[in-house]
Amino acid sequence: MAEHYRERIPGTPRFKRDKEYPPGTEPFFPNFLLKEWIVGAMFLVGFILWVIFNPVGLEKVANPEDTTFIPVPDWYFLFLYQLLKYFPGKYVVFGTVVIPAIATLALLLAPWLDRRKERHPFKRPIATATMVLSVLFMIWLTYVAAEEHKAELAKQGPQATTPGGQQGTASGPVVDPEDEGAKLYAQSCSGCHGPNLEGSFGPSLLGIGNRMNAAQLSDVISKGFPPKMPARGGLQSDEQVKKVAEWLAKQKQK
Ligand code: HEC
Repeated sequence: MAEHYRERIPGTPRFKRDKEYPPGTEPFFPNFLLKEWIVGAMFLVGFILWVIFNPVGLEKVANPEDTTFIPVPDWYFLFLYQLLKYFPGKYVVFGTVVIPAIATLALLLAPWLDRRKERHPFKRPIATATMVLSVLFMIWLTYVAAEEHKAELAKQGPQATTPGGQQGTASGPVVDPEDEGAKLYAQSCSGCHGPNLEGSFGPSLLGIGNRMNAAQLSDVISKGFPPKMPARGGLQSDEQVKKVAEWLAKQKQK
């Protein structure tokens, strides 16, 4: 069996027979590199398939007028983001440059700082403890940053998260897209509120049914928000407003 795998794979360069190498070893080229390459190729194919079947869409169009938007970095940078909060004003350079640089440098220098042959984690208490503590510290910072961001969003309230369309917390499919109200919406409102209610110039209307019923919506739409949104949202008659309002009231999203 073992012999079988050691045969040369057609198309790869010839290499010396394994018996010329000390037992328990194998030539770096091509044996080892070939294995590395196969694993790499499998990973790449898996990754490509994963991306194909889990497409990540773009987020909503950025709206520079939206002052309620709270920017927050991706999760893997949250710990750095949190760290810099502890260094206000001119000290911010400590959180952004000095401390990360020291940590990175220490990691780079580790092979020179600790030159003993011991490799078992328990036999290297200082190195192990430093690393474990650093990782725990990073996890803790990430957690605190996430909690603080959640608290900030909650403080804004659901009201404030919608105008501007950026932070629309609701998501989900548009309810009843065949409704007559939906057609009127597509003609009159989608330019500002997005073809799928996702918002663009105007706020997202996803989940608007959670906050307003048809009567309230009729009222809001009839008045509009001059000058940003015209009265009746550009519709011709109150009858049409009613139809759109009834359809929007059905938009109850998470
Ligand atoms: C010219 C752009 C524009 C058009 C067209 C428009 N809107 Fe708006 N709409 C806005 C803007 C901007 C706001 C936010 C106003 C504000 O908060 O000051 C808004 C707010 C709203 C709100 C309140 C949202 C909330 O979260 O409280 C509703 C409901 C709404 N629009 C429905 C409609 C409907 C229905 C139509 C079509 C009949 C429509 N709009 C057409 C720009 C538009």
